[in-house]
Amino acid sequence: MTPSNCRNPGGTGSPQIGTRFRCGIRRLPGSTSPATAADNTGGRTRLPGERVDGAGGAWNRPHVQALLALENLTKTYRSGASELTVLADVSLSVMPGETCAIVGPSGSGKTTLLGLGAGLDIPTSGTVRLAGHDLGSLDEDARARVRNQNVGFVFQNFQLLPTLTALENVLVPVELRGETGRRREATEMLAGVGLGDRLHHYPVQLSGGEQQRVALARAFINRPQLLFADEPTGNLDGETARHIVDMLFDLNRTAGTALVLVTHDLELAGRCGQIVRLRNGRRAE
Ligand SMILES: Nc1ncnc2c1ncn2[C@@H]1O[C@H](COP(=O)(O)OP(=O)(O)OP(=O)(O)O)[C@@H](O)[C@H]1O
Ligand SMILES: [Mg+2]
Repeated sequence: MTPSNCRNPGGTGSPQIGTRFRCGIRRLPGSTSPATAADNTGGRTRLPGERVDGAGGAWNRPHVQALLALENLTKTYRSGASELTVLADVSLSVMPGETCAIVGPSGSGKTTLLGLGAGLDIPTSGTVRLAGHDLGSLDEDARARVRNQNVGFVFQNFQLLPTLTALENVLVPVELRGETGRRREATEMLAGVGLGDRLHHYPVQLSGGEQQRVALARAFINRPQLLFADEPTGNLDGETARHIVDMLFDLNRTAGTALVLVTHDLELAGRCGQIVRLRNGRRAE
């Protein structure tokens, strides 16, 4: 990917997308070096203490604790006398540095599953372990702290704060950590997604695809261990979508960020190490 491949809506100050973004990445504490062919991990980042199976090159999972473990999740909504089960007995685990795609028809429960995994919503039954925390035992504030420390989330409908500019939106997760002085980094992050000349624009002044890229920059800013993205390319043209996907996988490779992506794009799903298929709220094999 070269900068010229990337859309720059304002047409000026063409950012060195990709390269700039990569240059801006700091290693996460404890994160690993980019994988090499010799790692035999299929291009994924080898984890501290992780062994590679000599015979098939498969990862030797029992030695590493899952970053995200969802067990027997069920989510039911009640409306008057009737009950709607939107997720039924869904389990999955995501290892540090792993990539996972969630696919399935509209209404099959993908967004619901993502929200439960990130502790944005609570299951009717089942357990969620995120970065070593049992989310069911935490109150909302504690869940928000675990999320802020470990997770980036790109919502299907972006959920930018309408009264804040693009730059201020990207800085929200930083401020939630009580940190300051990262405006330059946030500026570079926005330049990296092709919005270097739209820093001070409000969401209403941005197109859907531009808002989506602000949401991606906001999700990246704290170098999360785990990034959830709900149809991250859903509103983008083919070229910008490819660029954003490359950025996601760069983040995975260089910073060891695990990715959980909801997508209808089978090519994108095919790049992930694990594909979870949902149908009518259940895992379909
Ligand atoms: N708060 C709610 N109350 C009642 N039903 C809900 C609620 N939230 C979601 N649902 C229902 O749960 C089901 C799964 O919704 P979800 O948003 O998870 O689907 P999805 O797979 O993400 O679909 P899409 O691909 O269209 O985004 C849908 O039938 C939806 O109407
Ligand atoms: Mg959805």
